[in-house]
Amino acid sequence: MREKGSYLEWDQIWSMQSSEDLLNPMYTESDPTTIFQFWQKAYAKDLFNLIEDRGYTSFCELGSGRGTTSMYLAKKGYSDITLVDLSERAFKVASFSFNHYDIPMPRMLFADAENTGLATESFDCIYNIGLLEHFEDPTKVLEESFRLLKPGGMIFMPIVPKLPYSKSVQASIFLNPISLFKYFVKLFLQGESRSETGVYRSDLSRKVYLKICTSIGFRDVECISYNPFWKTNQNKWFEKKLTLPTYKFIYNTLMSKRKITLKTKPSRELCYLLIGYRNHES
Ligand SMILES: C[S@@+](CC[C@H](N)C(=O)[O-])C[C@H]1O[C@@H](n2cnc3c(N)ncnc32)[C@H](O)[C@@H]1O
Repeated sequence: MREKGSYLEWDQIWSMQSSEDLLNPMYTESDPTTIFQFWQKAYAKDLFNLIEDRGYTSFCELGSGRGTTSMYLAKKGYSDITLVDLSERAFKVASFSFNHYDIPMPRMLFADAENTGLATESFDCIYNIGLLEHFEDPTKVLEESFRLLKPGGMIFMPIVPKLPYSKSVQASIFLNPISLFKYFVKLFLQGESRSETGVYRSDLSRKVYLKICTSIGFRDVECISYNPFWKTNQNKWFEKKLTLPTYKFIYNTLMSKRKITLKTKPSRELCYLLIGYRNHES
C-alpha cells in the first residue's frame, strides 16, 4: 500500500528542482506565461471571491507543497497563514519564493494532514490545491480539517481526480493533435497509460466527496465541476502561442466576472471544487 497522500513521491518531485533555482514556477505577479500559472491565479481569485466579506483572518494550507495559494493570500495582505506538509523540500522552495517576492513568511509546520497536532478550532479557512485525490480515503484529512475549523469557517479544496484521457481528446484535436498522436503511440506500445511520477491519484466521484463531508458535519457542502482548461500540450511553443492565449481570451471575456470563475459543466471538468462550512452550532 502506498504512503498516504504520496508525500514521499511529492518530496521527490519537489527535489527535482535544482538547488540554485528554488523559485516556485506556479506563482507569478504578472500575466501568466504557463497554464499552471494561469490555473493557480484563477484558483486564488475564486478563493478570494468566496472569502470576500466573511471577515476571515486565519488560514491553513493543508498539504501546502510550495504554498502557491498562500503566496497569493499573503500578497493580498493576509498575515495569519500556516502551511502544513510532510515535505521539507516543499518548504525550502516555499521559503525561497516568499523571500524572493518579498512576501511576509507564513508559519511552516512539518506534520501529517491527517493529524496535525494543531489546536482545535484554530482557522477560519482551510484550503489546498490537489491534496485529497492523493489519498485512497480522504476522510481523515477532511475530519482533521473540520476539527481545525472555527465555527463559521470554510474549506476550499480543488481536487484533480484521475479522469479518462478521452475527456481531453476534443481539446487535443483542436489545440495540439501532435500530443494526441503521441498519447496513442504510447498507449499502443505500453498497453496502458501510466503515471510517470508514481504519485497515487484516486478516481472518487464528486458524490463520494459530498457524502464524506456531509457525514462529518460540514454544512452547505458543494463539490462542483471545475476548471475546463485542460493541459493538452507537451509542446511549449503550442502552449505559449495557441493554448494559453485561447484560454485567457475565453476566461477574460466569459468567466472572470463570476463568483466561482472556473465553474464548468461535468463534461468539461478537469477538477472538482469542494467547498463546505462548519456551522456555528456544530
Ligand atoms: C499537489 S501537491 C500541492 C501543491 C501545492 N498546491 C503547491 O502550490 O505547490 C500535494 C502536497 O501534499 C503533500 N502531502 C501529501 N500527503 C500529505 C500528508 N499526509 N500530510 C501532509 N502533506 C501531505 C505533499 O507532500 C505535496 O507537497
